[in-house]
Amino acid sequence: MYSFENSPSFAKELDSKDPLTNFRNEFHLPKHNGHDAVYLCGNSLGLQPKRAGQYVNQELKDWAELGVEGHFKKDTGWFGYHNLLKESTARLVGALPTEVAVMNHLTVNLHLLLVSFYRPTADRYKIICEGGAFPSDRYALQSQVMFHGFDPDDALIELEPRKGEHIVRHEDIIEAIEDCGDALALVMFGGVHYFTGQVLRMQEIAKAAHAVEAYAGFDLAHAVGNLDLKLHEWNVDFAAWCSYKYLNGGPGTVGGIYINEKHAMNHYLPRFAGWWGNDPEKRFTMPHRFVPVPTADSWQLSNAPILEMAALRASMELFDKAGMKALTEKSLLLTQYLLFVLNDVCNRNNKQSLIEVITPFVDQQKGCQLSVMIKENGRAIFDQLTSDGVISDWREPDQEGRISGVIRLAPVPLYNSFEDVYRFGVLFEKAINTN
Ligand SMILES: Cc1ncc(COP(=O)(O)O)c(C=O)c1O
Repeated sequence: MYSFENSPSFAKELDSKDPLTNFRNEFHLPKHNGHDAVYLCGNSLGLQPKRAGQYVNQELKDWAELGVEGHFKKDTGWFGYHNLLKESTARLVGALPTEVAVMNHLTVNLHLLLVSFYRPTADRYKIICEGGAFPSDRYALQSQVMFHGFDPDDALIELEPRKGEHIVRHEDIIEAIEDCGDALALVMFGGVHYFTGQVLRMQEIAKAAHAVEAYAGFDLAHAVGNLDLKLHEWNVDFAAWCSYKYLNGGPGTVGGIYINEKHAMNHYLPRFAGWWGNDPEKRFTMPHRFVPVPTADSWQLSNAPILEMAALRASMELFDKAGMKALTEKSLLLTQYLLFVLNDVCNRNNKQSLIEVITPFVDQQKGCQLSVMIKENGRAIFDQLTSDGVISDWREPDQEGRISGVIRLAPVPLYNSFEDVYRFGVLFEKAINTN
C-alpha cells in the first residue's frame, strides 16, 4: 500500500509517474467556469473520445457520397461493420471473438439471452439474483418469469445483505445456490453492483451454478471497461452490457453480448431470430429458413447501427492501446487515493462519522467506483459539490430508511488524474463545512 499525501504536489507526482496519463488528452472534458470540471461520473456516462466525431463524420460522408453502396465499400463496409468491433470486444471481456457480438441495447439483449437461458420447467424454474438490482434487470426477470406462467414472488430469489450490512456476502450467494439445488434454473447478477460498487466473484458463482445444473449470466453494465474480465476462462454462460458508461460509446449507444462457445455453437439452443443472425453468406439470398451462424452473431436480429458503432470504435481503439491490465492497476491506485483523501478530509475536520464508504475493497478485484454514504445533509453536500464543478451522481436514501443517500464517485483510469482526486478533496472539504 502506498503512503499517500493529500497535497497538490503529491497528486502531481503520481500523475507524472502514471504511464496512462496521456490518454486524458484523447477525451473532451466537460468545463466548469472555463476550467476542466472534476468529472467522476464515468460509471454513468463515459466521456467523448476526441476521435469519435471523426469516425462518425466519415460514415456520414460515405453515406452522402455512396448511398447504399456504402454497405460494400472497402474495409469499413456497413455489411460487416460490426466485425470491426469484434476482436477488441473479445479482448476486453476475455472471450473468443466468436463468443461476442455488439448489438442492440442492454435490456433488449438481456431479454434475448433470457429467451435462450431461462427455459423453466415445472420443477426447475427459480432464478437467484441480487436484491436491489437495477430496476431494468428486475423488470426483465419478472416479466420473463411471468411470460413462462410463473409468479415472480415465488420464482425470483432476491438475495439481500445481512442485517446491518450493505452488500451480499459471497458465501451467502453460494449457500443460496446450493440450497436451491434442483429447483434452480438460472443465476443472474450484476458483475459490479450498480449502487454499492461491489465486485462479484463471477467464476465461483458460475461454478456453483453449474454444480446444480443451472446457468450463470451477468449484467456487466458496471463491469465492462472497468474490470479485467475473463468470461471464457470463468466459464460464464452469458453476459450483456451497455457501452455508454466505462466504454465511452456515447449516450444510449449500442450494447454487447457474450455467449460461451459451447452454447454459441449449439444450433439447437432456442433463440429469437432475425435476418442479421443468419449465415452472412446466405443473408442476401433470403433463405426461407433461418440458418444460424455458429457464433454469438446468430443472436443478432437487425442490421447494425453504424453511427453508434463508429463512435464506439474510437473508444475501443483507446482500450486496445491502454490494455485492461494497466487500466485496472491505475484504477486501484486512483480509488485508494480517493479513499485516502476522503478519510483525510473527514479526520482533519473532525467529521469521521459523516461518511461510510460502502464499496468493499476485496483483494485486487476492485472497480473504479466508490459509493460514499453521507449520514447527514447528503443532498445539500452533493448539490454544493455540483455547483462547484464536481460531476458525480446522487442516489436517494431508500424508503425503509435503512440506507442514507449515497454519492457515487468513479475516478476512471482512462481520463481521470490524481489531481482530479485532489481537487475533489478540496471541494468536498468546502462542501462538508458549509452544509
Ligand atoms: C445495471 C444496469 N442494468 C440495466 C441498465 C439499463 O440499460 P439500458 O437502458 O441500456 O437497457 C442500466 C443502466 O444504467 C444498468 O446500470
